[in-house]
Amino acid sequence: MGYREIHADWQANPEAFWMNAAGAIDWSAPPSRAFFDQGPAGEWFSDGMVNTCWNAIDRHVQAGHGDRLAVIHDSPMTGSVSRLTYAQLQDQVARLAGVLAAHGVGKGDRVIIYMPMIPEALQAMLACARIGAIHSVVFGGFAAHELAVRIDDAKPRAIIAASCGLEPGRVVAYKPLMDCAISQAKHKPDFTVVFQRPECQADMVEGRDLDWSTAVAGAAPVDCLPVEGNHPAYILYTSGTTGQPKGVVRHTAGHLVALAWSVPHIYGIGPGDVFWVASDVGWVVGHSYIVYGPLIAGATTVMFEGKPVGTPDAGTFWRVVADHKVKSFFTAPTAIRAVKREDPEGKLVAQYDLSSLQALFLAGERADPDTITWCEDRLNVPVIDHWWQTETGWAIAANPFGVELLPIKKGSPTLPMPGYDVQVLDEAGHPVAPGTLGAIAIRLPLPPGTLPTLWNAEDRLRKAYLDHFPGYYETGDAGYVDNDGYVYIMSRTDDVINVAGHRLSTGGMEEVLASHPAVAECAVIGVADPLKGQAPLGLLCLKKGAATEPAKVAAEVVAMVRDRIGPVAAFKTACVVDRLPKTRSGKILRATMAKIADGTEVKAPATIDDPAILEEIRVALAGVGYPRPS
Ligand code: COA
Ligand code: AMP
Repeated sequence: MGYREIHADWQANPEAFWMNAAGAIDWSAPPSRAFFDQGPAGEWFSDGMVNTCWNAIDRHVQAGHGDRLAVIHDSPMTGSVSRLTYAQLQDQVARLAGVLAAHGVGKGDRVIIYMPMIPEALQAMLACARIGAIHSVVFGGFAAHELAVRIDDAKPRAIIAASCGLEPGRVVAYKPLMDCAISQAKHKPDFTVVFQRPECQADMVEGRDLDWSTAVAGAAPVDCLPVEGNHPAYILYTSGTTGQPKGVVRHTAGHLVALAWSVPHIYGIGPGDVFWVASDVGWVVGHSYIVYGPLIAGATTVMFEGKPVGTPDAGTFWRVVADHKVKSFFTAPTAIRAVKREDPEGKLVAQYDLSSLQALFLAGERADPDTITWCEDRLNVPVIDHWWQTETGWAIAANPFGVELLPIKKGSPTLPMPGYDVQVLDEAGHPVAPGTLGAIAIRLPLPPGTLPTLWNAEDRLRKAYLDHFPGYYETGDAGYVDNDGYVYIMSRTDDVINVAGHRLSTGGMEEVLASHPAVAECAVIGVADPLKGQAPLGLLCLKKGAATEPAKVAAEVVAMVRDRIGPVAAFKTACVVDRLPKTRSGKILRATMAKIADGTEVKAPATIDDPAILEEIRVALAGVGYPRPS
């Protein structure tokens, strides 16, 4: 069956389509039906009983594949490669689950995981799934304050951390960040489990911190606990319009079915194949396709602890593909741009045998046609852009490579996947004609695997996604669909920016800037960046009579964002201005300032309070090097 037939099949009978897809999963008790019209946006397979860890590990061991490689860990940061078979992974995960259970963690309890790209991070996630605990992984590039915010929201019984992460040129001690976050948070976990890495030994708090290795060695393994299909598998926080992140909830059964469907149909990966996703377990891409997806499919996943460049060079990606015979490789366009900048002609590509590679997948931001062409010319495999979000957990639009390769139109992530009825709407909520820009929305219900709600914040779910266009899920992205149905994602409709494939809230950064005692008013905008896609830039107005030097305040707010949000925000520049441009009703004209910073033509909006301010902004931005020379 080709894409059109599969899509038509789904459209004709979504219920039968998803029940059929559910056949790829081992159920303790099969669901009576696929869709349940309950909760704010519907749920999937709610009355089935199932366990994620069983489907990701145990069933493969039981089927006689215990010796198959489950995980290859490749770390140019430490110069090491290690491997785990399915049987070894089962043993480690069952024991860690035993540690958690012995210390009182049970079904529905939350566990925060704060770890770098090491196999123990994957084990920690699966150990939670084994006993029905709900994990929430926090990306290592976030600061202690962000971790504290997530601790207070998720109220974990335990935190699992590593002593450190490794960034080029520095060891990031995670344990002190965790300690600091626990002391800042109102909620206190009962205990923590700390994996000591040789690069940095963490000081342990007696009576609270367990040493991972000792605890796991002495633990009794525990079995998988079947849970209801609508039991939350995990919470993953993502940026919204304020400093309070949104806790996207993923239900167990829909997650399993969506991943079991998408791994073969989109990525062309089956049992025994090697799948490499160069992202991080802290992001949704890492959850779906470093950890759960490949293992559910019985494939081998590569966990990579390194960067596209500098670890040690721009040939690292190609070395990993060649060494581990990677079949499908998935990364972010920004990573390829970094490689391209160091090795414009792709000389390093030619040094490796890439014959195992069948396709390159790109996501996290729009894949610009130059980047796609550069890869196509050098790798000689299809280069596939696909579009999705933390909220959806898997691709909304993609080229279903595992089914058939549809014609690629550069700049488009191709066509909607089954389950997603993608519509482009005008402000009044009416579908617009092909080729017309609008807000991209998905007609409800969303397919299995997508968010059923936000953690303890159903009202926020409605306000953020469901209320604006009744009957639809609002993606927050704007774009259009062409005459062939191809989707084009052009921008966000909110203040979320995308920096090096990382989703960040400018509103959250503004909250930090506004807390500086000398700042009266501020705005953070996303400006074009040739490497990272976008970069944040702050504009500040100081309080009248503020004694502090403007340059000092600018430097201080840069340090504050790093300290409160984390290095991942990549907030490096702020400039002080006398006033900010506003509409007559007082709304700050952020998009207009972003255009000035990007050097694109700016017309003063009709609603502007005082057009003269735009010239002041132009001068101030020129003072900090914007627009950047092309
Ligand atoms: N723990 C601690 N710090 C981290 C971190 C982690 N897990 N990840 C990133 N950081 C830090 C970096 O060290 C850097 O700090 P610095 O300001 O002191 O240099 C900062 O956060 C920004 O990091 P990064 O976004 O990695 O920028 P970079 O300039 O070091 O590298 C790229 C640029 C393009 C190479 C890199 O961003 C990249 O590989 N991006 C791909 C992202 C991706 O895969 N996203 C997933 C979507 S699919
Ligand atoms: P995240 O939730 O961090 O995965 O970020 C999701 C957002 O990243 C989307 O809403 C888009 O704005 C952007 N995005 C992700 N993939 C793509 C893509 N292939 N093309 C365009 N934008 C993308």
